[in-house]
Formats: sequence, C-alpha cells, structure tokens
Amino acid sequence: MCGIVGYAGSRQAAPVLLNGLEKLEYRGYDSAGVCVHNDGGLNAVKAKGRLSVLRDRLEGGSALPGTVGIGHTRWATHGAPSDINSHPHLSWTGKIAVVHNGIIENEARLRAKMLRKGATFQSETDTEVVANMVGYYYEKHGDFVTAVRETVMRLEGSFALGILCQDMPGTIVAVKKDSPLIFGFGEGEHFVASDVPAILKYTQTVAYLEDGDMAVFDAENVVFYDSTGEIVEKKQEKITWEMSAAERGGYDHFMIKEIFEQPKALRDTISPRLRDGQVNLDGIELSAEYLKNLRKIYLVACGSAYYVSVLAKYIIEKTCRIPTEAMMASEFRYCDPVVDERNLVIFVSQSGETADTLAALREAKRRGAQTLAIVNVVGSAIAKAADQVIYTWAGPEIAVATTKAFSTQLSVVYLLAMQMAKTLGTMSTGEYLSLVEGLEQLPYDMDRLLSPKALEKCQYLASRYHAHHDAFYIGRNIDSGICLEGSLKLKEIAYLHSEAYPAGELKHGPISLIEDGTLVVALATIEPLFDKTMANIKEVKARGADVLCVTLEELEENAAAIADSTIAIPKIHPLLQPSLSIIPLQLFSYYVALYRGCDVDKPRNLAKSVTVE
Ligand code: F6R
Repeated sequence: MCGIVGYAGSRQAAPVLLNGLEKLEYRGYDSAGVCVHNDGGLNAVKAKGRLSVLRDRLEGGSALPGTVGIGHTRWATHGAPSDINSHPHLSWTGKIAVVHNGIIENEARLRAKMLRKGATFQSETDTEVVANMVGYYYEKHGDFVTAVRETVMRLEGSFALGILCQDMPGTIVAVKKDSPLIFGFGEGEHFVASDVPAILKYTQTVAYLEDGDMAVFDAENVVFYDSTGEIVEKKQEKITWEMSAAERGGYDHFMIKEIFEQPKALRDTISPRLRDGQVNLDGIELSAEYLKNLRKIYLVACGSAYYVSVLAKYIIEKTCRIPTEAMMASEFRYCDPVVDERNLVIFVSQSGETADTLAALREAKRRGAQTLAIVNVVGSAIAKAADQVIYTWAGPEIAVATTKAFSTQLSVVYLLAMQMAKTLGTMSTGEYLSLVEGLEQLPYDMDRLLSPKALEKCQYLASRYHAHHDAFYIGRNIDSGICLEGSLKLKEIAYLHSEAYPAGELKHGPISLIEDGTLVVALATIEPLFDKTMANIKEVKARGADVLCVTLEELEENAAAIADSTIAIPKIHPLLQPSLSIIPLQLFSYYVALYRGCDVDKPRNLAKSVTVE
C-alpha cells in the first residue's frame, strides 16, 4: 500500500526511481510520481494511473535530469486518484518535497493550523500537510533536519517519509513510524525504499529503520538518528535472496509462479524444523506448565492469514485440546477481548506490516498476553513487536493474492500444534509420527497437483465456469476453512461474487440464493462427512446449481455421480488435507481470472501490504 523510494548518487535519479517504483507495484497503487533536484530547484512529475503513464511523461527518465530524487506509488486514501493528489507534494513555499507511505490521523487539525499560518493547499492529501509543515518549520528555523524533526513530533498516525529540500541539493531525509522503510548502502550512492526489491538491483546491503529512526544522507554519507535525536549506528544486513526471486522468470504472472513455488517454500519452511522425526521450533519456548495453564489460544490476523487462523483452530483443538479462537485483527483490537497472561495470542502475517494486526498485537501485549508471530518478512514490525516469532520461509511474495505465504503459514501451524501437543502429551506417538511423515511428504504431494495434466483440468473447468455470476464454496469441518480461502481467491482476482459457508449452514439462509446457473464449489475431503456433503450437493443441484466437487481420489467416482464435475486429490493425513485442497482452488481462480480478462497480479482496489487501518 503506497511505496516510496529515494536515491542519492551519481546515476541519473529518475530511471533509478522508476525502476524502484516498478518493483513496488505489487504493493498496490493508482498513481505515481517522482521529484528530482536539478538546476537548484525541485522538479516533480506525477501521473494518475499505471507507472507506464508516468514513464511516458518522463520519457523514461530523461525528461528529469538530476542525481538525487524521491519517488512514490500512491494508493488513494485522502482524495481520489488524480495527478494533483499524487505524490511528491511540494510545500507552498516550493522549497520542500515529500513522499509518504501511511496515514496522518491528525491531518485535519494540522491542515487548519497550517492554513492559519498562511500555507496554501493544492491537494486533498494528508501528505501535503506534512510538506507544508516542514516548509513552515524550515522558514522558521532555517535548518532542514530541525524542520523535519519539528514536524514529525507533531504527527499522529503512520508514516515513512522521504523529503527533499531545495536549498540542500544532495540531501534526502527519511524518517518512519509504523510504516516500513529500509536503507540501502551502495558504492558512492545511497537508497531508501519501502521494500527490498526496489533497490536490490543496485545493492544487497541494507539496514532496517526502527520506528522513530531518521536517516540524513547524500551520495557519500549517512547519519542515522533514533527517536530521541541521538546518533545511532545501524546494523548492515545482507539480503540473501537474489533479484530473480522477485521477478517473473518465464511465468506469465507472479501468481502462477508463486503457486508453483509452493512445494519449495514448504520444504524450506518445514525441513529445518523436522530433525530425526521430531519437530524442533528452535527458540520457541512454550513449556508444559505454561500451556496447561492457558485458558485459550487466540489466532489473530487479516484476510487469508485469518483463514489460516480459522484452519488453525481445528488443528490446534484437535491435537492440543486447548480452546482456540480465530479473530480478525480489525475486530480483536476494538472488542475489549478477554485476554490476559493466561492467553497465548498468535499473529499471522505475510508482510509483518498489516496495520490492524500490528495494532491487535500491541493490544494483546498491553493486556499481558504472551504473543507469538508467524511472519514471512524478516525484521518486519510484527516480527519485531511479538515476544516470539516463527518465520515462514516462502521468499518474497509479489502477487497481491497470497498463495505460497498461505501454504507456509499453514505448515507452521502444523509444526507449532505438533510441538505443543508433544509437550502436553495430548497426541499419541503413532499420530505424531504419521503427521511427521505426512509433513515430509507434503511437498511431493503438492508437486503432483501441479502436473501439466492437473493444470489442464483446472483450466478446462475455468473455461466452463468463468462466466457465472455467483459462486458458493461449501464444505464441512476443516474443509469449510479452505472454502473461505478458495472463495476469497476467486473474488479478489476474478471479480466474481463468491461466498463461503459451512455446508451444514446452507439451509439456514444462503440456499435461498441458489438458482439456475449458480456455481457451487463443494469440498468433500473428509471421509466420515462425505455423505453429508453429498446430500448438500443434491440440495443445491435440485435448485439449479452447477457443482464442482473437490474430493479424494478414492471418492471421486461417488462424487462424480452427483456433481457436474470433479477434481480429485490424493488422500493424506486428514489434518494435512487442506494443504492439498487449496492448490486446485488457487489454480481454478487463476484461470477464471484469465478468462475474465482480469489483472491477476494487481487486482483492482487491493494492496499487498495493508499498512493503514
Ligand atoms: C489475500 C491476501 C490478503 C492478506 C491480508 C493480510 O490473497 O493476500 O487477504 O492475507 O491482507 O496480509 P498479511 O498476511 O501481510 O498480514
């Protein structure tokens, strides 16, 4: 959600900024802009729409010469997408330019104050308020860094800011709170960006800025300050993954690439934690005494990560016999949850930056709960804020719709549940070993579902069902959790209205919406509940629905006698089954989106990292 990038060096800044912004496109945006220092002035070019519009306006960068600049992709919050509302924003004095990721919550009050001071505004954005404040304090104190400090101390909300000052041609000031910002060290050049891919082409050496940190830099030098204004050293870290991990390779879309990366991502996440037939979550301390005294485990997250949490409820309750509840972070943070030191609260997040999840984490900590985060992005805010963290090793996930992060989050849930169950003695040795074996085998089982034949089947089914207007995903028990994720995939990338319900719930309302041509995707992978789900399929078929049933290979014949079409998946340990069921559902959504002509990797209105509430 919004991306910022800043460059100071000897190259032409505009092409570097455009390249960086392109790598941040995945975060979601609706307009973009850059500002470069040249001829003693600040020159900004901005454009509503895709980066290609900005690129054309900049003639690939050559229209804006200069070696120091800032750039931005905007996801509209304050004011509609437009050239004027796009960043960078200049102060009314013309001396300050600002790019901003985040939301300034006291924007209205600050805007009124700046108007009283004589500032004028062109846009509806909260960011222009920041530009005008820095402009005002710069006039007052005559010092750029002091002006930024004076401004930042008055801001409420979240921000990662990149700021230029007309009178300091080589210098950029960057500062952050609750929005991600990394600093890149090059040879005679420095960078700031919202995420690593933006600068990886130029450097693999980075430092992660903490809340309140400020970097004041030019091509040769950088000084870091902490929130108290003290000069601090920042640890330089090497990025271990290559640029190719954040590129499409030979694939048409990031999403399909990432679907294919799932077996590897699972191996990377599981293998280091399964040694000699034992789960070993290094450094995670959950003693038997602590676990036995727990009143309840909460899992708190948003979107697909919340659906992992819903699945986790089934998995943890079954294996550990501890009451477990999944909650959406946006609800948890405001519902006055019954949470104290007798609760373990687990936060699930790919980006580690999701605003609601981060706020919920702080709320849980404030109430005295022990917190544990399952996170993909190393060093992210949620990873840092939680008491303990387990990383998913999915690698960078670029497509807005999550696939491999979802699968690795689920695999961590299995590992965690098994470790807790072993500590508590709630799982038999036989069951434990069979889960270990199943987990080791899982990447190979996934490979089978990604064979050319399997893809062809999903593509065929998508060609058959893509023109439907409404879809319902139904299933029972743990299948109903996977329905939630399958349904979300379809609606978010294919823009097809879709809902998910536990199959037994149909008769209590939603069945009234089933009519000729409604698509029903039924999950029936739980043998003891197979007949029940078949009965539900008959009910919707009787009302005109077209039914696609995902079931086990050995049950396919029975399912095919009732449903219109089937997808069969191999039978594995019942608790692990969701890890396989999701694969054809991801593929189905992907192909439906293609048939419907949708922008698969960048679905409308969505952002990859939701860093605002
Ligand atoms: C859906 C999707 C989103 C995210 C949600 C949480 O495909 O990707 O629903 O799961 O926005 O994001 P993270 O995991 O970064 O906290």
